Amino acid sequence: MNRNRNVNKQNGHLKPGQKPSDLRGKNAPPYMEKDTLLGKEKSFMVEKMIAGGGFGQVYRARNLDTGEEVAVKVERAGTNDSQRMILESKVLDEMLGIKHFPIVYYIGPHSTYNFIVMQMLGKNLGDIRKLLPTKRISIHSAVRIGIQIVEALSLLHGKGWLHRDLKPTNCCLGLDEKRKTVYLVDFGMSRKFRNDDGSHRDSRHYCGFRGTTRYCSYRMHDRREQGPVDDLWCLYYSMAELIEGYLPWRDVESVDEMAQMKKILKHKMIFPSMPSRFASFDRNLRRLRQTSSPDYVKFQNILASCIKFVDNNAEFEWDVLGV
Ligand SMILES: Nc1ncnc2c1ncn2[C@@H]1O[C@H](COP(=O)(O)OP(=O)(O)O)[C@@H](O)[C@H]1O
Ligand SMILES: [Mg+2]
Repeated sequence: MNRNRNVNKQNGHLKPGQKPSDLRGKNAPPYMEKDTLLGKEKSFMVEKMIAGGGFGQVYRARNLDTGEEVAVKVERAGTNDSQRMILESKVLDEMLGIKHFPIVYYIGPHSTYNFIVMQMLGKNLGDIRKLLPTKRISIHSAVRIGIQIVEALSLLHGKGWLHRDLKPTNCCLGLDEKRKTVYLVDFGMSRKFRNDDGSHRDSRHYCGFRGTTRYCSYRMHDRREQGPVDDLWCLYYSMAELIEGYLPWRDVESVDEMAQMKKILKHKMIFPSMPSRFASFDRNLRRLRQTSSPDYVKFQNILASCIKFVDNNAEFEWDVLGV
């Protein structure tokens, strides 16, 4: 039932002159046509692409049984990328029903694609920041969000998983009554760091890079095995970008120079607007080893100490401004 079938759409097939690499990333054509029906009972109808350009594409769709809006993340099957989606569905399945993680409704293949139908969320923090007139999130909002992300990480780590690509665009706000709740998305780079008996997996001496250089820890620059501490470093740098509007290495092209800056830059250079009390976040992170279990509550308390009062009922400025 493809009412709006556009015969010019390639839907993942190569056009003359296109390279296979053009089928992903921002050059990729839409993988799914409008009105495509997904699921065993064909209960989800694709409406519109809402994000694309990374590894997958995300669509708004509708559950035809309930009328509810849902999100569908789609990736091409049979490629290296498809492993990401298998991993992502595994993580989301283990986090099902847990605060800060989108609910998964259905996981399945469709023609040459794999997809996950999940709870529809609102905008990601990277987009929200850019839409604000100041291009910065207020300290109060950033502290509230930071506290929630520490909670989300403690829940994820509690199940033995690392995110390994935490950054503003991988954190979304919920919709409507969930608009004050932060959700983590994008588990395509996740990795189990604990065995089923709770022990730490043996660490490798050298690992392929996983993550995004701008937000990663100096340990990740050195290709060291990641641990819970590295997700917290990603949060720390993400918060700096949200609060200050930029990171000190935004114009630095050399990855080695960026790593060096992360090793030596004082807290004040990264967070000129934050009270100096926040420096203990940095100090405490530096004390943690790859296998350390962070004291999540301590990190939340450091965040809370930076503002007079954490008002979790207040509306966020982007909701007030309607951006
Ligand atoms: N459940 C969702 N509801 C609404 N938007 C989402 C949802 N999941 C992801 N997105 C949006 O799509 C973007 C890309 O999704 P993501 O899972 O991060 O894939 P990628 O691997 O392409 O980065 C995110 O930055 C977010 O803005
Ligand atoms: Mg992403």
